Amino acid sequence: MKNFLALTVLAALAGNAVAQTHTSCDPTKRTDCPPDPALGTQHTWYFNETLDPRIWNMETGDIVYTPEGAEFTIHNPGQSTLLTSNFYIFFGVVESWVKMATGQGIVSSVVLESDDLDEIDWEWVGYNMSEVQSNFYGKGNTTTWNRGRYHHVPNAADEFHNYTTYWDHEKLQWWIDGSLHRQVNYGDALAVYGKNFPQSPSQVKISNWPAGLPSNDQGTIAWAGGLVDYSQAPFTMTVQSVRVQDFHTGSEYIYGDKSGSWQSIIVKG
Ligand SMILES: *[C@@H]1O[C@H](CO)[C@@H](O)[C@H](O)[C@H]1NC(C)=O
Ligand SMILES: *[C@@H]1O[C@H](CO)[C@@H](O)[C@H](O)[C@H]1NC(C)=O
Ligand SMILES: *[C@@H]1O[C@H](CO)[C@@H](O)[C@H](O)[C@H]1NC(C)=O
Ligand SMILES: *[C@@H]1O[C@H](CO)[C@@H](O)[C@H](O)[C@H]1NC(C)=O
Repeated sequence: MKNFLALTVLAALAGNAVAQTHTSCDPTKRTDCPPDPALGTQHTWYFNETLDPRIWNMETGDIVYTPEGAEFTIHNPGQSTLLTSNFYIFFGVVESWVKMATGQGIVSSVVLESDDLDEIDWEWVGYNMSEVQSNFYGKGNTTTWNRGRYHHVPNAADEFHNYTTYWDHEKLQWWIDGSLHRQVNYGDALAVYGKNFPQSPSQVKISNWPAGLPSNDQGTIAWAGGLVDYSQAPFTMTVQSVRVQDFHTGSEYIYGDKSGSWQSIIVKG
């Protein structure tokens, strides 16, 4: 525990610098990106009490803490919520307990995302309260949209469920309440999906956001179930807890070259 606190404070301090630049610094395009602060351990955060802003950064919007968890709410047009971890994990587990937001056009999400836009998603689209979607991207490659899958989950807006992502260099898994719903192997991602297996150090991003906006493209609006009807607001997603496990125990992750491959990542400390 002592070790964890030491690491996270360091990570959080380094994270402040990282958080300002991470969206604009893609290590597959540049060599001057700052190192990624590592979680380097495992921890569970209960979202019923204020999160340490050195560890979790509310990038957009506000959250409201209640005894059952943190509420991510959209009240008005233009509002969105995004909570990002200042730490990164380099393979690992993310277990989130979530009640999705309802409303067409509204998307609740728990995502792992790296600086070079590898991504592993859970997404709940607000028109269907008995479904969650899994998805992944490699290096921001959105040329095809064949990677998403739909999974049944009962009463996803009224009950917390255990949505767990397991991620290592060989496979990706999506678990719901202890049942394995989907597995993508590294080889499948190469053969079936192009060179798109997520494999670089990633932050945890939790968001409730309006995808059904007139400014978005038709495909996105259709996927989200139509335009947001703000007369139905507020739209609230609740997060009870998040357990994150990093499979490495370093203090920083550094891209050794511009390949973005997991073999190129240097684990420091
Ligand atoms: C938050 O939830 C955890 C786990 O249930 C509990 O141990 C803790 O006491 C709660 N904190 C508050 C402030 O209610
Ligand atoms: C909601 O999701 C379930 C599970 O994927 C699916 O069977 C059902 O058809 C969906 N309902 C709507 C209205 O899209
Ligand atoms: C949540 O699901 C994961 C994957 O099945 C499991 O390892 C974990 O123990 C579950 N969490 C709880 C609190 O049951
Ligand atoms: C992007 O993914 C598609 C298949 O999903 C693949 O055919 C293509 O080669 C990939 N592009 C790159 C640059 O990896």
